[in-house]
Amino acid sequence: MRVPFVITVDGPAASGKGTIASRLAREYDLPMLDSGLLYRAAGVLAGRAGVDLDDGEAVARVARGIQVEHLGDPEFRTRGAGEAASRVAVHTPVRLALRDLQLAFARRPGGAVLDGRDQGTVICPEAPAKLYVTASPEVRAERRWKQLQAQGEAVTYDEILADIARRDARDGGRADSPMRPAEDAVLLDTSGMTIEQAADAARRIVEAARARWENSR
Ligand code: C5P
Repeated sequence: MRVPFVITVDGPAASGKGTIASRLAREYDLPMLDSGLLYRAAGVLAGRAGVDLDDGEAVARVARGIQVEHLGDPEFRTRGAGEAASRVAVHTPVRLALRDLQLAFARRPGGAVLDGRDQGTVICPEAPAKLYVTASPEVRAERRWKQLQAQGEAVTYDEILADIARRDARDGGRADSPMRPAEDAVLLDTSGMTIEQAADAARRIVEAARARWENSR
């Protein structure tokens, strides 16, 4: 039996992976899971409940109540939520609490697009199409800064660059499911690209993977 057509899009913050993943989901008519939102929800909801973000078991109890349908809270998209997410994401109990929901999404018979840090390495290593999207820290900081300004957050470029460096170090350095490309992921560096160019490059990579998948019965 052929595995469902799953596209994993991993990579660091503000690399362009979210936009690329949404476009691929639209083009291939696949449901998309933004797994970062799960960790953001865990961080924000734990904070609201007065839970210490360094207490993995306590945050995991909050994380077990999260459902994919409840990720629309705008606070989950703030800078503070990103920071809280990366703090709670180092804890194995929290990752386990969010795993079943991600596995269920990855195993939908019609396929899916999975956006995150460990989708191609841990959640769905069998995915037929894997992308690892990167860009230089400076380019990512510039993009994230503009995005946050548009959301009305008062923050400087240098603060965002520092956030990005800290997040890369934490996400890439943690023991459980560190951010890294799967061995068979195609790397896409979007530093010198417009979003249109990056989306086109991603589409070409996925087209090639789709052709291989079509022939894999
Ligand atoms: O992608 P986003 O910026 O929303 O992710 C927020 C944080 O959630 C990341 O910095 C990372 O620590 C964590 N995360 C993760 N595994 C994923 C997705 C996100 O650890 N699959």
